[in-house]
Amino acid sequence: MSRTLITGGTVVTAADEMAVDVLVEDERVVALGVGQNWTADTVLDATGRYVLPGGVDGHTHMEMPFGGTVAADTFETGTRAAAWGGTTTIVDFAIQPRGGALREGLDAWLAKAEGNCAIDYGFHMIMSDVNPSSLKEMEVLVGEGVTSFKLFMAYPGVLYSDDGQVLRAMQRGAQTGGLILMHAENGIAIDVLIEQALARGETDPRYHGIVRHELLEAEATHRAIKLAQVAGAPVYIVHLSAASALAEVAKARDEGLNAFAETCPQYLFLSVDDLGRPGFEGSKYVCSTPLRPVEHQAALWRGLRTDDLSVVSTDHCPFCFKGQKEMGIGDFSKIPNGLPGVEHRMDLLHQGVVEGHISRRRWVEIACATPARMFGLYPRKGTIAPGSDADIVIYDPTATQVLSTQTHHMAVDYSCYEGKQITGRVEAVLSRGRVIVDGGEYRGAKGDGRFQRRDTCGYLR
Ligand code: URP
Ligand code: ZN
Ligand code: ZN
Repeated sequence: MSRTLITGGTVVTAADEMAVDVLVEDERVVALGVGQNWTADTVLDATGRYVLPGGVDGHTHMEMPFGGTVAADTFETGTRAAAWGGTTTIVDFAIQPRGGALREGLDAWLAKAEGNCAIDYGFHMIMSDVNPSSLKEMEVLVGEGVTSFKLFMAYPGVLYSDDGQVLRAMQRGAQTGGLILMHAENGIAIDVLIEQALARGETDPRYHGIVRHELLEAEATHRAIKLAQVAGAPVYIVHLSAASALAEVAKARDEGLNAFAETCPQYLFLSVDDLGRPGFEGSKYVCSTPLRPVEHQAALWRGLRTDDLSVVSTDHCPFCFKGQKEMGIGDFSKIPNGLPGVEHRMDLLHQGVVEGHISRRRWVEIACATPARMFGLYPRKGTIAPGSDADIVIYDPTATQVLSTQTHHMAVDYSCYEGKQITGRVEAVLSRGRVIVDGGEYRGAKGDGRFQRRDTCGYLR
């Protein structure tokens, strides 16, 4: 048995801030206490530091095929970058092939991840073909720990489900305990606007933000919530960016519906001004839902404070500028959708603490505890308590750093936050009791991460 003791720090969880030592035996936390004279093989001095639960990023896309190319981070590079940034669990997305079975998609993604991940991982299942057979399969997947299913109201002909398919999947979700995650944008209307924009010669990246109109996010969010209500099912809106979509979620929650939503750091810190950068630079900021005018940021921070937004995930889906984003020169609709971000979520949200948008405990809640609970991983993940996995981050709240391609670990040739100064920095990371990041040194290895069978949503049982 190996024993690790973390001394002198302030343990911050979603519920408490405590000046206590943390004792770890093998892979688990066994005790928190003061003045216990514990002995250990490894002692980590956390004086002046926060001791946090490892981050849980509930929305990533390693190696995701999209628009004729594949996201640049592999499970190996992306999970290593996540670890550098204090995230110790990801929930990625397996994709059902159109015309194929959920099983086929899940097995393919399990094979991609197996033996390659630096940190623990689970999967949501993207349903790109809702039919009697895939609806039946949902129950089997829930039994195997894949307890959430993403549907798309966007991308007609590719990943899109119509309202009937959405309703059926939600009904099945209600029966099986599977949580439906919704990409809420009206893709049919957006495709009309894309066609019209291109016909007018409007080809720059900034038109991506214009055709993916805020109201088409709000409308789809409203429709998703109503369909879920009809089905008697919960719904979780992914990557929410528009204030008017947030208002739909807030209204539903006020009515007592099980409607949940996440936003992402890019919507809190970036805006349409980035999409409008000169030349083709704006393509670096093309993602869906799109970045919004800067005024939306205040509404999103408010939503995080009021719990109308419960989670911040990254939607990490990086494409290099050279050769990938460039596929859309002359036609913004061909720019692969997605941004890099898995490495910087904990730091950017800490910046939100520094700037007074959220409290320290809320930071841990939206980045660690709630995603763990939402996706059936709590209290194994998302907290520091006897019995939980010893996924722990030692965080220096006063260190400063400058985000840059030169220093990040993601396998992508640009940073959305190039030159941005951040207060706070990850100092050490433990994954199930093993130190994998130690100051400036990476001590983990690919294959350290294990597949996590997840329970059903912890807010519904
Ligand atoms: O632009 C995005 N969000 N790319 C990843 C796929 C998705 O819709 O989440
Ligand atoms: Zn999406
Ligand atoms: Zn996504």
